Amino acid sequence: MAIYFDSENQIFTLESDHTSYQMKADDKGFLLHLYYGKKISGAMDYLLSYYDRGFSGSPAGVMDRTYSMDVLPQEYPTAGTGDFRRCALVVKNGDGSESCDLRYVSHEIRKGKYGLKGLPAVYASCEEAETLEILLEDQASRVQVKLLYGVLEKEDIITRSALISNQGEGRVIIEKAASVCLDYLTGDYDLISFCGRHMMERIPRRVQIGYGNYTVGSRRGASSHQYNPAVIVARPDTTEEAGGCCGMMFVYSGNFLCEAEKDQFNLTRVVMGLGGEGFHYPLEQGEELAVPESVLAYSGQGFGELSNLFHRCIREHICRGKYSREIRPVLINSWEMAYFDFDGDTICGLAKEASGLGIDMVVMDDGWFGKRDDDNSGLGDWRVNEKKLGCTLKELTEKVNEMGMKFGIWIEPEMISRDSDLYREHPDWAMQIPGREPGLARNQLVLDFTRTEVREHVFEQICRMLDQGKIDYIKWDMNRSLSDVFSANMPDRDSQGKVVYEYVLGVYDFLEKLIRRYPDILIEGCCGGGGRFDAGMLYYTPQIWCSDNTDALDRVRIQYGTSFFYPASAVGSHVSAVPNHQTGRNISLHTRGVVAMAGTFGYELDPGKLTEEEKQQVKDQVIEYKRHAELISRGYYYRLSNPLRDVCGAWMFVSKDGSRALVSVVMLENHGNMPVTYVKLKGLKADALYEEAGSKKRFYGSALMEAGIVLPVERGEYLSYQMEFHMVAENG
Ligand code: GLA
Repeated sequence: MAIYFDSENQIFTLESDHTSYQMKADDKGFLLHLYYGKKISGAMDYLLSYYDRGFSGSPAGVMDRTYSMDVLPQEYPTAGTGDFRRCALVVKNGDGSESCDLRYVSHEIRKGKYGLKGLPAVYASCEEAETLEILLEDQASRVQVKLLYGVLEKEDIITRSALISNQGEGRVIIEKAASVCLDYLTGDYDLISFCGRHMMERIPRRVQIGYGNYTVGSRRGASSHQYNPAVIVARPDTTEEAGGCCGMMFVYSGNFLCEAEKDQFNLTRVVMGLGGEGFHYPLEQGEELAVPESVLAYSGQGFGELSNLFHRCIREHICRGKYSREIRPVLINSWEMAYFDFDGDTICGLAKEASGLGIDMVVMDDGWFGKRDDDNSGLGDWRVNEKKLGCTLKELTEKVNEMGMKFGIWIEPEMISRDSDLYREHPDWAMQIPGREPGLARNQLVLDFTRTEVREHVFEQICRMLDQGKIDYIKWDMNRSLSDVFSANMPDRDSQGKVVYEYVLGVYDFLEKLIRRYPDILIEGCCGGGGRFDAGMLYYTPQIWCSDNTDALDRVRIQYGTSFFYPASAVGSHVSAVPNHQTGRNISLHTRGVVAMAGTFGYELDPGKLTEEEKQQVKDQVIEYKRHAELISRGYYYRLSNPLRDVCGAWMFVSKDGSRALVSVVMLENHGNMPVTYVKLKGLKADALYEEAGSKKRFYGSALMEAGIVLPVERGEYLSYQMEFHMVAENG
């Protein structure tokens, strides 16, 4: 059992193998947060202190000057009840007031994990999970909140979500709705968020949570390149290997808001969910808003362990479909080789070269449809441009298949070019505000995916295309942020504030239909690379193109940040040509291979331009990757250095039983008279004896972990090393 209710003290305890989460519905009906962290025993309400504190008044009906919502730790704090900190819920009532006084009504504990209609969520079998549902209500407005908690005991995962409904008579507007609020009564904390920009996503940024407020979020319609919807709350001394930390991952691909603050009495609060400018969700009587869920995990042993908890949760309880558990094909993508300049022969030529190299699949990227010879036109016209290809899609896929290669294709269903037949027919389908000229990005507009008829039209076109040949893979792209947000689909003015949320639900609805109709097609998500790299998308697409930046040096850093929450099986990573198209840097083919092998491996270059020697190297890389694919996509993952600070980037994969390991190191710096670089390994069995495959040298696990491996001092830029270790004796 993972969920307990102590009826005498009204205390709820959620327990996983190594963690406890506790809350209490007190005698006033408020749901107070008591604890989340390493497993503990007993009731934690002894932590609560009550005394009269100036300017922190009492809530309605409480004639006790020592009781204030302004200081108590809470599960789901609301605005308007005298808690002046960041809150989880803001409700604007029919009369324009902002107040919602939620009190405990009832609860239910059941087997299995709750689901969320129309939204991605962690899934688990009845034996693997339990659900707690707590009903709270504001008597005056009859706004009800069902707090949902899922506990995956063995996985050390707790999920939280909220269903907000209006049981009253008039309309209310939800201005903010979080799925999680975590209050820490004591201690100092840091917040680690993953910030960046297009082509440089998810760079970890650690700040002290101080007085005032620290906010990250997205208002771009996608979870964004700029701030990832996943953060870590850590003790100041927490490192990769030691210390307490809690990860909070929002399973959602649209706008989000994450706020952290330390209050006047040093309580730390972190809130994650929907909110911020542009979000207003009207609820009529009987209507409900489902807040996307947040996944929580706690590690008492640093970030390394925390990451592995999230990796396993994503791989086994978020990603779905046959590919979530299968090794993905090694692919070659046409984009950086040809951009828009290709025909059917180019793709066949690419497939032919690639098949000789052991690659499994060719992907025809942007440019195969409508009028699309550059990025100024054609989006929305998902008809194969047979004139450009010089053949039908069926013929092309057949030719590719005859070479023993799988075939993949690029689409960008959410978008529309003004220069397209779709726009000429349905200009009103593009999101734009009446009476205003819409802003363009990449010369394109966004389709109003809140509208069923729009989604259906695009879906039909895309299915018609997919049904023409044997398609094994889709790259689903999204190449601009949402501005000029407006939908003719909305019944009234207030409802414009829910357009972005409904848009994301529209995208999910489309994806759900697509994966149901084509369960054998592997879908890779993409948003100008990693602009929508989140657990929400991973529910539909088990891998995501990590970044439009394929430079191996930058990728070491981007993939480092990405690895804190997301497993290597989710990270699309390719070897591209040099000089690199984004940075102009020249990095050896070997190092480019080592870096790309930390994800779902592939190529993005013209193999015809490779020398014979390079071709042999690629062949060897593909063999090498396939040999390690299981370990890379399912093994434990450890960061061995911080490439933002250290002279090298280093990481390793370890098999579940600790008998095999693959270590990768990329030198980021090289200097005259260079000191020796040592890298300490992790996750091995201390007493076991390991053999390094290349040198046949033997080392004890303890030595490799305590003192490390020794790297050669060599001349050259961005040299890299890959070492494979096998256990030769468990107790050497
Ligand atoms: C985005 C993707 C690229 C490529 C182009 C095509 O930028 O991230 O990989 O598919 O679009 O237009």
